[in-house]
Amino acid sequence: MNKQIAVIPGDGIGPEVTAQSIKVLDAIARRFNHQFSYHYASMGAVAIDETGNPLPDETINICLSSDAILFGAIGHPKYDQDPTAKVRPEQGLLKLRKTLQLFLNIRPINTYKALQHISPLKARNLEGVDFVIFRELTGGIYFGKKETAADGQSAFDECSYSRTEIERVTLQAFQYAQNRRKKLTLVDKANVLETSRLWRKVVQETAVSFPDVAVDYMFVDNAAMQIILNPAQFDVVLTENMFGDIISDEASVLSGSLGLLPSASVGNQTALFEPIHGSYPQAAGKDIANPLGSILSAAMLLDHFGLDKEATVVRDAVKWTLSNGFVSRDIDPINNYSTTAIGDLIADYVEGQMTVDSGNADLNKSTII
Ligand code: IPM
Ligand code: MN
Repeated sequence: MNKQIAVIPGDGIGPEVTAQSIKVLDAIARRFNHQFSYHYASMGAVAIDETGNPLPDETINICLSSDAILFGAIGHPKYDQDPTAKVRPEQGLLKLRKTLQLFLNIRPINTYKALQHISPLKARNLEGVDFVIFRELTGGIYFGKKETAADGQSAFDECSYSRTEIERVTLQAFQYAQNRRKKLTLVDKANVLETSRLWRKVVQETAVSFPDVAVDYMFVDNAAMQIILNPAQFDVVLTENMFGDIISDEASVLSGSLGLLPSASVGNQTALFEPIHGSYPQAAGKDIANPLGSILSAAMLLDHFGLDKEATVVRDAVKWTLSNGFVSRDIDPINNYSTTAIGDLIADYVEGQMTVDSGNADLNKSTII
């Protein structure tokens, strides 16, 4: 298979973790005889520094002419601490999602036996946890009209949804649930919000065509609690943009680290794959960030190409590193491995060159203890 992949390393730890994914994709290409060509493009704070624009047109063009996009992370503290900044790195990602019409963000939540001890939840509550958050990604409060009054004394952000925007993600969520445990939970705030009432209506109507899928409706405040109390009850969780942003960070604590979680953003054009974590500026350049969120996003990219066997090998490699203690500092603050070392180990495993002896990895082992 011959594929063109747009690579947007982005800000903070983005370039470091993305480099590990490329290493792993190259190992996949060698082992399975594929050809992946990479086209680098800039977005975020780095793009503002280079061009004044968080999403240069060239980046959009590279994305549109590629088969998939691998993205790292976005954000820089100098903008977070300046609420008056007119140009912000995040605008780049939001504009890219809108321009490519990436209306659905898929975030799988898994737990790993080897990591149960670092989750704040008791092991018995983590048994059987395996759900997927379907987050609407190009509508709602993120993209509504927003304004601060001239006197600076008030501001607003409008949340609106059209039936079409809701229908297209709802349909995909039902289809996905049909191929899983056949349960769909709509997370909303229909007791308060008009948009949530429209979501409920659309979901109820769509449910008629999927009689084999059990539908559950949950207010977002209750859902936030249920994710901690009884996460195994969820299968496919469907929700609007901002609720999805919030509950997916919350759900990441079940796995043990935000650094582990991948995502896929899909729409009508090129799909984008990115870890759900941010740019983690404190770790940038130190080779200590967890590359697994990015590497598992690369596995989702392989799924998207229909390369199931290849994606499985990557996921097996990730499980292998976790169960052998080849983990980054967020997972084990005492005995940890560098970002690069974990990338090397996974690439070696993928290529079948992994000898059980971890001698190589020890050389790169973090000295931060
Ligand atoms: C995410 C991020 C983004 C979002 C930010 C960086 C704009 O938090 O992908 O979850 O809020 O969607
Ligand atoms: Mn987020």
